Amino acid sequence: MCGIVGYVGARNCADVLVSALSKLEYRGYDSAGIAVFADGEIQIAKSKGRLADLSAKMEKEGKPEGHVGIGHTRWATHGEPTDVNSHPHRGGAYVTLVHNGIIENYKRLKEFLISEGRTFVSDTDTEVVAQLVDYHYHGDPLAAIADTMREVTGSFALGILFADFPNKIFAVRRGSPLIVGKGENESFIASDVPAILKYTKQYYLLEHDEIAVLTDKGTEFYDTRFVPIQKELLTADWDMDAAEKQGYEHFMLKEIHEQPESILRTVTPRIEDGLPSLAECGITPEKIKEFRNIYIVACGTAMHAGMVGKYVIEKLARVPVIVDIASEFRYREPLIGEGDLIIIISQSGETADSLEAMRLAKKLGAKTLAIVNAKGSSIAREADMLIYTHAGPEIAVASTKAYMVQIAVMYLFGFELALAKGKITEEECRRLTALLLETPGYIEKILARKDELHTIAESLVKAESLLYIGRGLDYALSMEGSLKLKEISYIHSEAYAAGELKHGTISLIYDGMPVIAVDTQKALHEKTVSNIKEVKARGAMTILVCGDSYAPEKDIADYCFRLPEIDDLLMPMMGVVPLQLIAYYASVMRGNDVDKPRNLAKSVTVE
Ligand code: F6R
Repeated sequence: MCGIVGYVGARNCADVLVSALSKLEYRGYDSAGIAVFADGEIQIAKSKGRLADLSAKMEKEGKPEGHVGIGHTRWATHGEPTDVNSHPHRGGAYVTLVHNGIIENYKRLKEFLISEGRTFVSDTDTEVVAQLVDYHYHGDPLAAIADTMREVTGSFALGILFADFPNKIFAVRRGSPLIVGKGENESFIASDVPAILKYTKQYYLLEHDEIAVLTDKGTEFYDTRFVPIQKELLTADWDMDAAEKQGYEHFMLKEIHEQPESILRTVTPRIEDGLPSLAECGITPEKIKEFRNIYIVACGTAMHAGMVGKYVIEKLARVPVIVDIASEFRYREPLIGEGDLIIIISQSGETADSLEAMRLAKKLGAKTLAIVNAKGSSIAREADMLIYTHAGPEIAVASTKAYMVQIAVMYLFGFELALAKGKITEEECRRLTALLLETPGYIEKILARKDELHTIAESLVKAESLLYIGRGLDYALSMEGSLKLKEISYIHSEAYAAGELKHGTISLIYDGMPVIAVDTQKALHEKTVSNIKEVKARGAMTILVCGDSYAPEKDIADYCFRLPEIDDLLMPMMGVVPLQLIAYYASVMRGNDVDKPRNLAKSVTVE
């Protein structure tokens, strides 16, 4: 999704803006631009493509030299990724702005502005809001912003320059995230903290409908009735190192390797006397045992973590769990209400569909529990109860370590709920909790065998399509393996419940088609083996991911990756690692942009 930055201070503004935007590249974008007060006017440089294209353009055509400006990486929604549609956009003589999010009523506003004699050069909703601010501007920027906020609908964040105020940046948000950084005689705006970490760790979180006015001396905050607001200054607990690659070829590889540490950071503080304790997150045994139904609502990988959660909670605590895709949940009049718990899982905490699903559940009277990685994000702030995952910043678009800690939290929650409901004994709960703490050590061992997974990736990299199959928890895992492969390698794949294949999908199998069979559940092993035989007999090239005590008949697997065995219930934490690495190597071998796959964005703040 789009990224916004802004700078006011003594440094060369264009350099700061480009450097800050480079830290938001992970969000996904297809054009970039900056606007800087230079030589008494607002000068704009923008280009479709990568930041490198923008820098090359500025090298050739001249870089705006100044100390106050805004910048943007655009992930196209309204209008193609072209130079003209790139941000910043001018709104007339006075206003230039950058925008993240969607202006829902832009068509109506555009018609109105055209009727007022205004003309447009781009297809974007951004230019409409720029023109609207300019239309309302009569010498007072705050009034122009407030008037605009009254007329626009949607979820967005804006960074604005007014030609009459060359020492100031104005910013406002509704829905989309925006932070304001505070340095020594310099101030920043950014869509996310990594953009400013090189310069400062101190920042404010801009809230819904708050306006920030930044100068090099600091920032003033107002509501839309111009009442000044005092805000808490926060300190980021990440450092630059955490947001850099540290010698790994890609962020994704680094993040896969960070999984053992992320689990420990997430799980250890939530264990007391050998038992899970989520009290600091607002979750007590008395509170959770009363819930009638549990819904887990999320998108993509986070939803797959929810699938694991469903198995764990239903198996241990015997509470029905419905897993829903957030974009579906919202529009099917869900049957939830008082007495139900809705768990929202999100790495970014800003995913529009998940956020809106949570708001809807709240409105319907359900209690909400958010499992979120990004501190201070919208979902984290609006939930009734909150468990932060401590994966640290996840930069690669493909989620790996965030998924790992999401499922780690699902286990903690499932264990605590099962104990609270008297469905497992304290002894069993202690045993499972201790095993959870052992998973990082096992994962380290899997990571040390990367070469085997490189070989497996070689065997499928030329395939046009493949299948992932599994049963129970292995099916949930297959979904995640399949998504990981397709999003970064661009090889089509599908995950199927192994037993369901023969009801149609098995007709897809052709000679040599790769099928990755996940077979980590002892209780289902024989059944899964039968399904593997079915695809093998029809010519599939099979790759088996199984526990290390299995001795599969030689002829069912062309490749076999054995996992350290731990309790069946915890096997997804082992099993996902080879699936992530197979996808990673396949993407590298195909020469793809692993960390920034085409068409994708890290934080999906539009519906
Ligand atoms: C896939 C991936 C996405 C996200 C999804 C939800 O690797 O990263 O499928 O899981 O967009 O994002 P969050 O977790 O930020 O709500």
